[in-house]
Amino acid sequence: TGGRTVVVAVDGPSGSGKSSVSREVARRLGLAFLDTGAMYRAATWWCLETGVPLDDTAAVAATVRGLPLVVGVDPDAPTVHVGEHDVAEAIRETRISAAVSAVATNLDVRAELGRLQREAIAAESAPGSFSQGRGVVAEGRDITTVIAPDADVRLLLTASEEARLARRARDVHGSDDAAAVEATRDQVLRRDADDATVSTFHTAADGVVTVDSSDLDFEQTVRAVLEVVARATGVR
Ligand code: DC
Repeated sequence: TGGRTVVVAVDGPSGSGKSSVSREVARRLGLAFLDTGAMYRAATWWCLETGVPLDDTAAVAATVRGLPLVVGVDPDAPTVHVGEHDVAEAIRETRISAAVSAVATNLDVRAELGRLQREAIAAESAPGSFSQGRGVVAEGRDITTVIAPDADVRLLLTASEEARLARRARDVHGSDDAAAVEATRDQVLRRDADDATVSTFHTAADGVVTVDSSDLDFEQTVRAVLEVVARATGVR
């Protein structure tokens, strides 16, 4: 990055491919990668593990304030630990996907995890960090608007509902035939609706560049994002 720090904020709905695309962009630019959805998922895992009822907002908030969460920012080896538990795989389970909105719509949880996210982003601007101060690609739902509105690059990665359902079906069922798409439809659309109560990630805020990946494959999407970064920062 030629000695400058670059912060790239990426938002988008589930199934837009933003996690894998953001990770690859970070890898190619030598930046850190912050998956903020993984933090909400880890918080949810911990609440379920410790038996905290998710509708008890005060108890959930207190639990998350004490969450011993460590999120790795190496795009080649993303890690998520809660205390001594390696939860990288467990947080992708369907029971977590089904429960996470209840935790992510808790405003005290958002304040606490938002604080950790801002800290992680700031840390990558300093020498001695994973990226040696080169910067970070942070992805989520409210990164361009709430967490890093001053990011050098702000991007909304979208895709048509059809494309997102097909991608999620391939991820979860290994197929995008009609039955697999139908099986994921409820889950994806319900979570979109639940998530929309805390953020409006389907429309780009002022100054946010939209990349629509509906008709792009993975490599084309990565290149489109890299082009937006290059135009905004001169970094290739
Ligand atoms: O991107 P994901 O599916 O891993 O996100 C998990 C959940 O966390 C999803 O329901 C949206 C929520 N989330 C959020 O509210 N804010 C973020 N910055 C990231 C994720």
